Amino acid sequence: MNDTSSEGGSGDDREAGQPVHRPVLLREVLAVLELHPGLLVVDGTVGAAGHARAIVPCIGSDGMLIGLDRDSEILVAARETLAGAEVSRAGTRISLHHLPHSRMHEALAATGQSRCDRVLLDLGVSSLQLDRPERGFSFMADGPLDMRMDADAEVTAADWIAMVGEQELADTIFQLGDERYSRRIARRICEVRRRTPIVRTAQLADLVVAALPGAARHGRIHPATRTFQAIRMAVNDELGELERGLQAAHDCLRPGGRLAVISFHSHEDRVVKHFLRARFELVTKKPIEASPDEARQNPRSRSAKLRCGIRREEVA
Ligand SMILES: C[S@@+](CC[C@H](N)C(=O)[O-])C[C@H]1O[C@@H](n2cnc3c(N)ncnc32)[C@H](O)[C@@H]1O
Repeated sequence: MNDTSSEGGSGDDREAGQPVHRPVLLREVLAVLELHPGLLVVDGTVGAAGHARAIVPCIGSDGMLIGLDRDSEILVAARETLAGAEVSRAGTRISLHHLPHSRMHEALAATGQSRCDRVLLDLGVSSLQLDRPERGFSFMADGPLDMRMDADAEVTAADWIAMVGEQELADTIFQLGDERYSRRIARRICEVRRRTPIVRTAQLADLVVAALPGAARHGRIHPATRTFQAIRMAVNDELGELERGLQAAHDCLRPGGRLAVISFHSHEDRVVKHFLRARFELVTKKPIEASPDEARQNPRSRSAKLRCGIRREEVA
């Protein structure tokens, strides 16, 4: 399954000409988290704070929200959203951190806490990232081939493509993109990079399309969707981060605390399912998916899967 959020249906509205990220499965997230006043909630992927701003009124002035994002630019948007009137009225203590969710214990420690009551992880990219060509996630608008969620990270997508071996490239595009033409695409990329560096998103998108057989160039999604998704996931080590983030959430949650995860990719969902089954009481036996209404209004929600579990008591 593909993360169709990779383009075409980024799930954003526009407010004053600016894209606004529309939170996926919002009602369902609030329900499975069973929020009430006084809770300490960690939003490990706070993004533009779409979920966070709905969480805050539920936990009230005795509650605390800790938001993390590995993208410092997006934290500016989170800050703006959370400074809004409705959120301010709730009087909740809010603390935002430029950290990956795998390091949530550092954010807790920085606020004098060691354990939390709820953790939310809403994986993948934000439409605010996709919509800015200069961030290099987009095959719809040309930009530098960057794709780093954290601008402090050393390796851009262009660097990664320049270094990776053909076999590893093909395997990555196959495994993380579910792209059946992964070998043809990898071969093409390696042929082109011998002549000229691949440094622009449009350049990569064009050469992916050129590598495909004619019939595969016209589908429901843009033919470069799968390849871009795979490269983005590799550059940001998204599966490795997910495994470390789930472990961090388990370690930071009090027994009885709840972890909710929204994933957009079948590999991610598999990792989440196995992790929850092994260490949590399941709140969702099957993943919750978007209602037909939400799927119609927000194409990004179509591949979303929400799972939730309750952390088991510690055994002495
Ligand atoms: C789908 S968006 C979250 C949207 C948010 N729930 C909202 O409603 O506005 C995913 C966010 O997670 C961030 N992210 C991805 N991987 C991360 C990680 N390992 N640690 C922290 N943030 C991460 C991305 O930078 C992006 O802002």
